[in-house]
Amino acid sequence: MIRSVVRGYGAALPKRVVPNRELEGIVETSDEWIVQRTGIRQRYIAGEGETTASLGEEAARAALNRAGLTPDDIDFILVATSTPDNTFPATAVNIQKRLGMTHGFAFDMQAVCSGFVYAMATADMYIRGGMAKRVLVIGAETFSRILDWKDRTTCVLFGDGAGALVLEAAEGEGTVADRGILTAHLRSDGSHKEKLYVDGGPSTTGTVGHLRMEGREVFKHAVGMITDVIEAAFDATGTTAESLDWLVPHQANRRIIEGSAKKLGIPNEKVVVTVDLHGNTSAASIPLALSVALDDGRIKQGDLVMLEAMGGGFTWGALLIRW
Ligand code: UT7
Repeated sequence: MIRSVVRGYGAALPKRVVPNRELEGIVETSDEWIVQRTGIRQRYIAGEGETTASLGEEAARAALNRAGLTPDDIDFILVATSTPDNTFPATAVNIQKRLGMTHGFAFDMQAVCSGFVYAMATADMYIRGGMAKRVLVIGAETFSRILDWKDRTTCVLFGDGAGALVLEAAEGEGTVADRGILTAHLRSDGSHKEKLYVDGGPSTTGTVGHLRMEGREVFKHAVGMITDVIEAAFDATGTTAESLDWLVPHQANRRIIEGSAKKLGIPNEKVVVTVDLHGNTSAASIPLALSVALDDGRIKQGDLVMLEAMGGGFTWGALLIRW
């Protein structure tokens, strides 16, 4: 059977690093509160000329270089983002243009913090369905531009960045020993819409709007939703927490990550945590975390890696992949 195998990875961060201390001068907060409640120590904030598309392009170029490929080899660009450069056209076609690509097709997906898991699952379907052979899957965000910088309950949590993977069709045996995406499980429940949303949009206010979140409410649902969908991935593949080499979660809050891992019996040593470095970068957080753990040699070819995310919508999902 056809599997979607990872051939390359890349990441991009804005130039400016903003440590917690710097936020103490903007809203009434403290480094201690932020670290204790979230695990975040710093985030990167996009400056002039840095956009979702520019960060996405940089991550995509790095992923192509690592894969030993050029834009000519790609036939589909899928960008997960909730902070596109423009309402339309899609950031994916903007990146396509920046890469000098005029063939193939490109579009965006919007599943907020679950965007990268949704995008990987979607790319896998296009590959297994035969519509694409090589896909650039990008998670790219500039959440700093939709934050209310007067609201301390949200502005300290998010950051900007991008990450990308190149997926390629390869022949597998149909077992969990295959390299590539082994299973994906996506969920959503729009009845939670008001708990995490943006209070503007083209069809309502005609403005971009600002992010609004009832953090405690999101927190309350997070661990249960994450563990349910990871268990679905284990069940579908006959794998267990013991067979897993790495859990690479969406990076929103260290307490959510550790709570989920504990409930599943996954030791902290097997969990990749980068929320301290990047804050919550929404759809970019998983590929940014992957890139850190690949750069430092933790994740190796053949490892069994679980990706998971939960966010606005609510949307949530898990994806098991053999690297
Ligand atoms: O990626 C999408 C998914 N999003 C998430 O997963 C986020 C989920 N939620 C969370 O991570 C946590 O709920 C937060 C980090 C947002 C908040 O942590 P919490 O432990 O749930 O705190 P809380 O909202 O219950 O607030 C506790 C106190 C409040 O004061 P009172 O009412 O107890 O006097 C807040 O006003 O902390 C106060 N507070 C702050 N204090 C200093 C809220 N924000 C801040 C702040 N600095 N930045």
